[in-house]
Amino acid sequence: MSEPTHGPQEPAVEPVVEPAGEPSRRTAIQAVTVAAGAVYVGALGYPVYRYLGTAADEALKDAAVKEVTLEVADLAPNSALMFKFAGRPALLIRHADETWTALSATCTHLACTVSYEPEKQRIYCACHGGVYDPKTGNNVSGPPPKPLKAYQAVYADGKVVVSRD
Ligand code: FES
Repeated sequence: MSEPTHGPQEPAVEPVVEPAGEPSRRTAIQAVTVAAGAVYVGALGYPVYRYLGTAADEALKDAAVKEVTLEVADLAPNSALMFKFAGRPALLIRHADETWTALSATCTHLACTVSYEPEKQRIYCACHGGVYDPKTGNNVSGPPPKPLKAYQAVYADGKVVVSRD
């Protein structure tokens, strides 16, 4: 016995059967979308990957630097030379008494780069007015909480070898 029906009958929907071996339109669109997404991710990700890899390589190279030799024949007494040491700014000061000091030039307050002021014979940080002793790197006034990092500086034959432990 068949059950009685109420209301209009809905037409039966026949499922679409794809021939074996041929991709459906949906499958093709999905494949194109996935491929486009992969290209997009690659286009964005590769430069980031390269940048981070290069930065890591540079940091490792910088960390390995323990010594640098600077030509100082033209550096007058009571003046300074900015240079990069282990990837960071540094300061070599030739004092008026012919002694030498090599210091990190990164302020210990908020990491601005400091400079030597020959007229005041001090190291000054223009960011917040920090002052350091040019002979020792000790913080003498302003907000810097600790001295500048000091390096060894040895003069010979118009050159100074700056080194660190
Ligand atoms: S960063 Fe140098 S005093 Fe603030």
